[in-house]
Amino acid sequence: MPRGQFITIEGVEGAGKSTCMDLIAERIRAAGLPLVQTREPGGTGLGEDLRELLLGHRHGGMSDDTELLLMFAARAEHIQRVIAPALQRGEWVLCDRFTDATYAYQGGGRGIARERIAVLEDWVQGGLRPDLTLLMDLPVAQGLERAGRRSAPDRFEQEDLRFFEQVRAAYLDIARAEPARVRVVDAAPPLAEVSAAIQAIIDDFLARHG
Ligand SMILES: Nc1ncnc2c1ncn2[C@@H]1O[C@H](COP(=O)(O)OP(=O)(O)OP(=O)(O)O)[C@@H](O)[C@H]1O
Ligand SMILES: [Mg+2]
Repeated sequence: MPRGQFITIEGVEGAGKSTCMDLIAERIRAAGLPLVQTREPGGTGLGEDLRELLLGHRHGGMSDDTELLLMFAARAEHIQRVIAPALQRGEWVLCDRFTDATYAYQGGGRGIARERIAVLEDWVQGGLRPDLTLLMDLPVAQGLERAGRRSAPDRFEQEDLRFFEQVRAAYLDIARAEPARVRVVDAAPPLAEVSAAIQAIIDDFLARHG
């Protein structure tokens, strides 16, 4: 049984990641492929509890290293209990945010050196990396405006514009460095247009791997 494919979706707040997850999932399932749909931080019982600590407001003064380590603690649990077993079984995995978000938020946003994040990435993931990443890119203010209309700000969403500009820049740096894995989607247009762009990317990927 060939290993399943691992697809992640990334981008700043309000880019439309969660909105587009179902569309991607539908496409993959329509091709007859078994799919696990999940998210980070989270994806397990313990991971969802860690998510609450990370995104909630109970620990506003959390140190940057604590935040980074909790992200990878949740990820270790997620990989060992959900992602790796599914891929082993030949199932595909679609994840709303993954390690690129750590490079973008804890690296770009908080300023933690990428080499330190890379140590944890190797430790926690071994050789596991996404096979395809969709980076939904749009101006920061537009994303925050969308996210603000949706719900009250979480612990990250209350950061200033400069923070999110750094997050966005870090994401785009990753896309430039890894063009074979990361496909950038312009997330600014209306949803119908964004959906069409995403479908084209997924169909192309399915044609090569499905
Ligand atoms: N292309 C679009 N045009 C206009 N509104 C959109 C578009 N895509 C998503 N939205 C809306 O923007 C809001 C945020 O979308 P969504 O929750 O999918 O973003 P997200 O990337 O998952 O954000 P977060 O990082 O906070 O989880 C939702 O209300 C959604 O309906
Ligand atoms: Mg979301």
